[in-house]
Amino acid sequence: MTRNILVTSALPNANGPIHLGHMYEHVQTDIWVRFQRMRGHQVVYVCADDTHGTATMIRAEEDGVAPEQLIEAVRRDHVSDFERFLVSHDNYYSTHSDENRHFSELIYERLQARGLIFTREVEQLYDPEKKLFLADRFVVGECPNCGAAGQYGDNCEVCGATYDATDLKNPKSVYSGATPELKASEHYFFDLPQYTDFLKKWTRSGAVQPEIANKLAEWLDGGLKAWDISRDAPYFGFVIPGTTDKYFYVWMDAPIGYMASFQKFCDQRNDMQFDDFWQPESEYEVHHFIGKDIINFHALFWPAVLDGAGFRTPTRIHTHGFITVNGTKMSKSRGTFILANDYLDYLDPEYLRYYYATKLNGTADDVDINLEDFVQRVNSDLVGKVINIASRCAGFLVKGFDGKLADTMHDGELWQKFTAQSEAIAEYYEADDTSKAVREITALADLANQYIAQHEPWNLNKDPERREDVQLVCSQAINMFRVLAIYLKPILPEMAAKTEAFLQVEPLTWADAQTPLLGHTIAKFKAMLARMEMKTVDKLVAASAEAPSEATTADGDAPAADDEFINIDDFAKVELKVAKIVAAELVDGADKLLQLTLDVGDHERQVFSGIREAYDPADLVGKLTVVVANLAPRKMRFGVSEGMVLAAGPGGKDIFLLSPDSGAEPGMDVR
Ligand code: MSP
Ligand code: ZN
Repeated sequence: MTRNILVTSALPNANGPIHLGHMYEHVQTDIWVRFQRMRGHQVVYVCADDTHGTATMIRAEEDGVAPEQLIEAVRRDHVSDFERFLVSHDNYYSTHSDENRHFSELIYERLQARGLIFTREVEQLYDPEKKLFLADRFVVGECPNCGAAGQYGDNCEVCGATYDATDLKNPKSVYSGATPELKASEHYFFDLPQYTDFLKKWTRSGAVQPEIANKLAEWLDGGLKAWDISRDAPYFGFVIPGTTDKYFYVWMDAPIGYMASFQKFCDQRNDMQFDDFWQPESEYEVHHFIGKDIINFHALFWPAVLDGAGFRTPTRIHTHGFITVNGTKMSKSRGTFILANDYLDYLDPEYLRYYYATKLNGTADDVDINLEDFVQRVNSDLVGKVINIASRCAGFLVKGFDGKLADTMHDGELWQKFTAQSEAIAEYYEADDTSKAVREITALADLANQYIAQHEPWNLNKDPERREDVQLVCSQAINMFRVLAIYLKPILPEMAAKTEAFLQVEPLTWADAQTPLLGHTIAKFKAMLARMEMKTVDKLVAASAEAPSEATTADGDAPAADDEFINIDDFAKVELKVAKIVAAELVDGADKLLQLTLDVGDHERQVFSGIREAYDPADLVGKLTVVVANLAPRKMRFGVSEGMVLAAGPGGKDIFLLSPDSGAEPGMDVR
């Protein structure tokens, strides 16, 4: 039976570039979509940029452009990144569209007619200079719990406390530095608590993974609150019908963007009806792929809003975890906050698609992208095992038999093993457990390589009597390779296309794995993918470290600061100079310190340094050292220290200064 399936990935925010975290989601979705298409189902895969909110408005203002201009430029970049990663969206739209305005208004009016909307006064912090209400992330101040400075209005990164922005001490607006004021305004609410029983049932209906249902149960059992769906002007978004200065909160119209993008797609063709998919109780399927950070929006608000407005609810929400790179959160200073565009400057997208596939397992657990493991897996499994099967055997067929495959299968039992795995692998794909699919596929590749090693076609080929066996063995190998290419096609569409060209066949479908290619002529073999080099990955990481880019979420979440590293600007502030020690004396009452007089080129200064154990003062005179020249002078018990002397070594007796014959001169900059 042919299924009709609408699939979406979460709509990336329009205020930042696509990075490998977004790509993890789109690659996962695309693998599932391509798999379903290969099975002969009718699939539409849509996405869009999530454009609304304060963050877009502010960034456009900073760039001196209209928000419409900003989001269109960003959309073009996003589309190009996804295309180059072979993500096969059928439509990639924008939430700032006529279709989205239409559906947002329609849904709102239907909710209102059903008594699901009410208004209430809300007091919120307001920036009197910028004249706008401040979301929690746009207020900084001192933590009400531990007093740490520079904390955002929702939680403290030092002590972990969560609180309301109004609890911060000495709050300041991130935009203007002004002290925010409390200001009341009328907000519009969706009456979510009315949906408690509905959602308790829905979340246990198989629409979400069991561990997600458990997480949602915590919220459901704790009692749902009405959802604030309005924001005051100025805001970049859609005006709420019947008001002049209230806008839909970005998270209200964002999921409606799935519908809008699909509507736009339907308008471009005549074989697709919007209502077939979205009417209540539709047999057609709707699947959303999302990250675990946005499950409340997709598995609580969204189904309730849809039902309230007379639409069907999603068939399944596929929730994935977050990626870390080399064991930690993606980090700009480490160069592991990698943009899709930068990746593509160095590496083939199919390497990453394959590596992601080995990690995806249908759960919402976080997964680590270890860059060395990445190179290793691609080289040993994909290039070393899979492609190797064809590269070892194709040449004999092309040279000795004009590329003609044998008319019969040499080892029928082995062939059966390949075809028999089709349904098991299909089930793994269906369940988003791509890692298990890949494991089965590589196990088959091992069998194929054993077969080749056992029959040694290169030796058979030396024996004129065994020509026929060369053809049989190599044909069997090519057929096994073909089945692997079919099973891998959802992950590696480009490699499949190259395989189709090599085999001179029509686009491979899932069912093709059941029928061997016999007596068919193939083309000359060209390797579909080259080995990866760790060097290239290192270059990518270096380039990513050089190119920081500030991405914020639609809610204005700034990426967390990295406290393990200083950045290049911090480092540039440190002034290092070569200094000559012109005098060194013991310090009364301080048995670890020496008082040094340093010649830093144009003047002398005094520094107290803890290197007494390593040096006799007399030995130091005339030696060179490096000094932090712009360290703020510090008053010590014995006098003022005007800088800090740098030395190498573990400390104690083993501390080494610059060698006197290094050629360095007092006053030289150290870089
Ligand atoms: N705009 C909202 C989604 C609206 S959907 C109606 C949003 N945008 S986002 O750009 O911040 O994130 C888009 C998707 O990328 C989310 O599903 C998010 O979970 C995912 N990822 C962003 N960083 C990620 C990782 N580091 N790892 C895996 N996925 C992550 O949320
Ligand atoms: Zn704190």
